[in-house]
Amino acid sequence: MSKTITILGIESSCDDTAAAVIQNGKILANVVANQQVHQLYGGVVPELASRAHQQNIIPVVDQALKKANIKKEELDAVAFTRGPGLMGSLLVGTSFAKAFSMGLNIPLIEVNHMQGHILAHFIEDANNGKHPSFPFLCLTVSGGHTQIVLIKDHFDMAVLGETIDDAAGEAFDKAAKILNLPYPGGPLIDKYAKEGDPKAFQFSKPQIPDLNFSFSGLKTNFMNFINNECAKDPEFKEKNIENICASIQSTIIDILMAKLKKAVAQTGINQIAIAGGVSANSGLRQTLLNYEKEHGWQVYIPKFEYCTDNAAMIAVTGYYKYLKNDFATQSTAPSARYAI
Ligand code: KG4
Ligand code: ZN
Repeated sequence: MSKTITILGIESSCDDTAAAVIQNGKILANVVANQQVHQLYGGVVPELASRAHQQNIIPVVDQALKKANIKKEELDAVAFTRGPGLMGSLLVGTSFAKAFSMGLNIPLIEVNHMQGHILAHFIEDANNGKHPSFPFLCLTVSGGHTQIVLIKDHFDMAVLGETIDDAAGEAFDKAAKILNLPYPGGPLIDKYAKEGDPKAFQFSKPQIPDLNFSFSGLKTNFMNFINNECAKDPEFKEKNIENICASIQSTIIDILMAKLKKAVAQTGINQIAIAGGVSANSGLRQTLLNYEKEHGWQVYIPKFEYCTDNAAMIAVTGYYKYLKNDFATQSTAPSARYAI
């Protein structure tokens, strides 16, 4: 009988402390502790994030093992996010994973957070048992990254295009901040957008060459628009929140889709996956499903819990690395800027 492989995954790159247990590719537990402390500040405060990770990490791991009904002695390896992310946050998960691996005398596996977002597609129940086959394209859109990645194999990936300034999630969060919505604003914009008219207001779209993205011009354009309208009517935001959210959301989606269409035309690949927190956006998900119907794309959209930051994606990446005997050492250091 083949050996059962059980891996603990740990994610602490930004403001979510997460732990998951995977057994032979199947997720047994996936626990995330969100940090509410940043809401007041309109963005993640790095020092507060690392302190909250320190408080959360032990209870989160404990809960994941209990949910999975796994004793720590049954683990075969511990996988952790090495980067990219906030250094103070990464240090907490990395140090914990190293201590755990040393204490249990089991191997340590380092995971690139962005590869993790993409490999979440290989979690057994990520998308009703549907997994992309190689090669495929992935639009990876999060609070820190916006990339179009060509995936030739589990660990053979090439970034075809990326943002030259803000990430798509940042565009959502900054627009939300201008509208006085709490951080993270993406989910709230999504919620209001459902009730609004996406054509109500027009915002500028960047002209950036190749497959790269830019969102900083849109932010400035949006801020000037809101300031001008509020000068005329101080209640403009409140009166038009649904239409404003629908319009900014559809502009961000248009910018993403324009480059994705270009990537499909350039590569001839029409298997399209999405990953990262912004892939939880219902407008983006619906737009991709429309492309599947109208343009023959094959679209892969993971469950919500595997889109935003989670440790299941770290555990599944760890599982594939375990199968390749690709292990880290006690001297593997976290890396704030860690390219795919
Ligand atoms: O991948 P993620 O959880 O963390 C990073 O690695 O950055 O992504 C977080 C980002 C935030 O910018 C958040 O506003 C955005 O994902 N986000 C959304 C939605 N849910 C999360 N943006 C738009 N619509 C959503 N439903
Ligand atoms: Zn992420």
